[in-house]
Amino acid sequence: MSQSNVWTHKGTFILAAVGSAVGLGNLWRFPYVVGENGGGAFILVYALTVLLVGLPILMAETLIGRHGRQSPIMSMIALTKSHNTSKIWQVIGWMGALAALLILSFYSVIAGWSVHFGIQQFSGSMQGASHEAIATVLDNLLASPVLLLVYHTLFMVASAIIVGLGVHRGLEKGLRIIMPLLLVMLLLVLAYGAVYGEMGQAASYLFSFNLSALSLQGWIAAMGQAFFSLSLGLGAIMAYGAYMPARESISKSAATIALADTGVALVAGLAIFALVFAAQLDPASGPGLMFISLPIAFSAFPAGALFGGVFFILVFFAALSSSISLIEPVAAFLVERFRLSRLQAVCAMAATAWLLGILTVLSFNVMAEGTIFHTLFKRSAFDSIDFLATNILLPVGGVLIALFAGWALSRAEVERELGTNARWFLLWQFAVRYVAPTAVLFVFLKGLGFTSGDVWPLVVALGFMASFVAGRSLWLKADS
Ligand code: PHE
Repeated sequence: MSQSNVWTHKGTFILAAVGSAVGLGNLWRFPYVVGENGGGAFILVYALTVLLVGLPILMAETLIGRHGRQSPIMSMIALTKSHNTSKIWQVIGWMGALAALLILSFYSVIAGWSVHFGIQQFSGSMQGASHEAIATVLDNLLASPVLLLVYHTLFMVASAIIVGLGVHRGLEKGLRIIMPLLLVMLLLVLAYGAVYGEMGQAASYLFSFNLSALSLQGWIAAMGQAFFSLSLGLGAIMAYGAYMPARESISKSAATIALADTGVALVAGLAIFALVFAAQLDPASGPGLMFISLPIAFSAFPAGALFGGVFFILVFFAALSSSISLIEPVAAFLVERFRLSRLQAVCAMAATAWLLGILTVLSFNVMAEGTIFHTLFKRSAFDSIDFLATNILLPVGGVLIALFAGWALSRAEVERELGTNARWFLLWQFAVRYVAPTAVLFVFLKGLGFTSGDVWPLVVALGFMASFVAGRSLWLKADS
């Protein structure tokens, strides 16, 4: 790869990765998933997952990306060859591309809603309207496949243009404009929430840890949310890592990214719940939290139209800086492998995701019930795609990445990339070799209802053993 595909500015990797991480996952998904799973208890498990599983895998992904210096698929093909491991590990690249496609397909549809709500807010039509009237804004939008499709198209085209312009003129330049704007808008919304909302109530809702309130599904949701929010397990961070200058610190960057992502989720959660509580609405209202409860809350306070409008612009751009990281890894692969031009590659990925997105568009109206998805998975097409990608593909991809980085790469290689001292290295290695795989196994079994309270030592032992066996075989092959 030529030098031209290394970020020009110091710190662009962090900017790009934070841009990827901060998105609908923080502003829309996090608050409603917290609400659905009982507040503080969920956050405790979530924070632990970010620290023990997310952070080490974030480092592993960056490491593999920078070491491979190509798209995730090509990097994995090269690394399995150079390290003489089984070809099976290339599945990391392929599965990641599939997950990126699936997530981009629904991500674009939901991000499109923010355009509609931004327009509605700025028009002032919601100010002083009745709760029912405001709730129908989302209902009416969801009932119209045409409108949903228009916004979906708009968002996808905007994302494609940025990536199509290239690593420097598109991604780097775009992010350097979008990211500072996001920060300003987030602070504005937080200030608004502090003035008109019930911050104290929101804080005690978010930070009162009561583990017994967490359901089995809550554990899976916390893990899926951690992977989704940190953009882990599908190669987005890997692709950005490939453009990272050799002298930048991976561990410091990863810590900054995890901190920023969690910080934004908490700040958004505080602001949203403060307003929702002040308007005496239900915090556990599900995906409609941001699109029904929040507009109702804004409508009840002074200058709500303006700040509500700013909020939805924030959502739009946060989503945009994430969706580009879903296109980039696959587009880069198409360029490398099939020698497509960047524009052709980006169009191929965006068009496929756009087509698939029609399933999500229809899930809210024409296909709201009685489809094959409902028969097979007891959920709509949208929910099935989301569940498969977020709660299954991302964690599995993340574990495979952890095992590969932890066992197949040599200590010298890792130390050259991480540039870290021995103690930190061993901690990281222990985390990717054992802790992350075991945690994911534990949560999967729990989600399936297999682990009640007292069998957890057994599951941990099993997880460590399985990690060891998987790792050992990788390692032996790599060594021979
Ligand atoms: N992290 C993004 C968000 O929170 C979504 C995302 C997931 C982006 C996976 C890229 C890869 O909105």
